[in-house]
Amino acid sequence: MTPVSDAFVFFGATGDLAYKKIFPALQAMVARGGFDMPVIGVAHSGWTVERLRERARDSLEHNGGVDEAAFEKLSSQLRYIDGDYNDAGTFERLRAELGDAEHPLHYLAIPPSLFGTVVRALDASGSARGARVVVEKPFGRDLASAQALNATLHEVFDESAIFRIDHYLGKEAVQNLLYFRFANAFLEPLWSREHVDNVQITMAEEFGVQGRGGFYDGVGAVRDVVQNHLLQVVALLAMNAPIGRDPQSIHMEKLRLFRAMRPLEAGHLVRGQFRGYRDEAGVAADSDVETFAALRLYIDTWRWAGVPFYIRAGKCLPITSTQVVVDLKCPPMQIFDEVAPAHSNYFRLRLSPEVVISTGVRVKRAGDEMRGEDVELTARHQHVDEKSPYERLLGDAVRGDAGLFTSDAAVEAAWQVVEPVLREHPPVEVYEPGTWGPPSATGIVEGEEGWHDPQPETSAPC
Ligand code: BG6
Repeated sequence: MTPVSDAFVFFGATGDLAYKKIFPALQAMVARGGFDMPVIGVAHSGWTVERLRERARDSLEHNGGVDEAAFEKLSSQLRYIDGDYNDAGTFERLRAELGDAEHPLHYLAIPPSLFGTVVRALDASGSARGARVVVEKPFGRDLASAQALNATLHEVFDESAIFRIDHYLGKEAVQNLLYFRFANAFLEPLWSREHVDNVQITMAEEFGVQGRGGFYDGVGAVRDVVQNHLLQVVALLAMNAPIGRDPQSIHMEKLRLFRAMRPLEAGHLVRGQFRGYRDEAGVAADSDVETFAALRLYIDTWRWAGVPFYIRAGKCLPITSTQVVVDLKCPPMQIFDEVAPAHSNYFRLRLSPEVVISTGVRVKRAGDEMRGEDVELTARHQHVDEKSPYERLLGDAVRGDAGLFTSDAAVEAAWQVVEPVLREHPPVEVYEPGTWGPPSATGIVEGEEGWHDPQPETSAPC
C-alpha cells in the first residue's frame, strides 16, 4: 500500500506561489480533516515561524478568507527553517525537524534551476529516504531542459516518487472530461474521424500578464499554457479508453496519445502580441514573445487521422473562458429546403469559469414549413469547484495518488510536439486588447466556419 506522507515540507515558503495558492490549499486540507502532520516551510528570507504565520494569515485574508479554527490548527502545525539551499546545515536542521517522519513530502515551490541543489542536499541529509517530491511548472523550457530536469530528479528519486503538478489536471472540469468520455456509451461511436470534423480548444483570458511581465517575457503562450495545460486537455479528449482508472493505465493511454501528436509546424501557427505588452514592467522593449497563439495540430492515429485540432490561447481577449468544441460532420445530405449552418451538431465543453456540457442540435421551428433552428441542450451546468486544484493535487500527493500528475515520458513527449515552433516560428503580429487576436488567426481554421468564440454563459442550469 502507498504510504500517506507524514510531514509536508515546502521549499519557497515565503514566495508568491505559497502566498497565492499553497496556504489556501493547506487551510482547506486542514479544515476538511485528515491532514495532521508538521508543515515545515523552508526559505532563505531571514524569517521566523511567527513571520511565516503572519504571512499565512495575510495570504488567506486575500485569497478566500480565514477559517479561524482551521487556521489555528494549521498555525500549530507550522514550522520554519531559514537557510541557504547551498548550505548543508539547512538540510541538517530540516532532518532534525522531520524527527521520526518516515515519508516526508517535499514540495519544491522554487525555480527549477534550484531543483538539483535541493534534491541532492535532501539526499545527503537523509531526508529523501521514503519521501516523495512535488515539483511545479515550468518543467523545462524545451525538450533538452526537461530531460535534464528529469535526469536531475532521478538522481535521487524514483519516478514513482515524483509528482509533477499541472494545476489544470486538478480542475473539476478537466477531470470531468475523462469521466464524461468514458462513463457514457453514446459518445464512443461518434468520437473519431468518422463523425468529428474538427476540435477547437480556446483558452481566453481577458486580463494581461498581471505584473508577471518578467516571467512571461521569457516564456510566451506556447510554453506557458499550450505545452502543458492545453495539450493535457487534448490528451484527455482524444486518448483511448484506459483499461482501468489506476494512474498507470491512464498514464499509458495519455502517453500513446502524446506520442501520436504530430510535431507542430510553423506554417500552422499564428503568434500575436497585445498592443501595450512591451510597456509592461519586466518586458523587453523589442520583445517578440507571444501573448496569443493559434495553431493547428494533428494526431496520427487511426481514430484521428486528418482531423484538425485547433488550439487558441491568449491574454487580453474579450472574455475569460476555456472551452472545447467538438464539431461533428454535417448530415450526408440535405432533405429540407433550407440552407442550414454547416456545424449545427457539436459538443461544447466549457471548462471555466463555469462547467457546462452542451450538445448543439437542430430542431424544427413551429409552423407549416420544415425549417429549423440551432439549439443547445445543456447537459450539466455547475458553478462551484468543491476543491481548488491545489487542494486536490496536494491532497493526492500526500496520499501518494499519482493519477492527476504528469510522468517524465509525457512531459518530454509534450515538449517534443512544440519543439519545432520554439526554434522556428512566424514573427508576432500585434493585436488590439479586447479582440480575438491577430486577424490572421482566422486562417488557422480550415473552411468557412471559423473559430467558435466562447460567449458569456446565459443558459439556465438544468
Ligand atoms: C498558469 C499560467 O499556468 O495558468 C497563467 O502561467 C495562466 O499565465 C493560468 O493565467 C491559468 O490558469 P487558471 O486556473 O487561472 O485558468
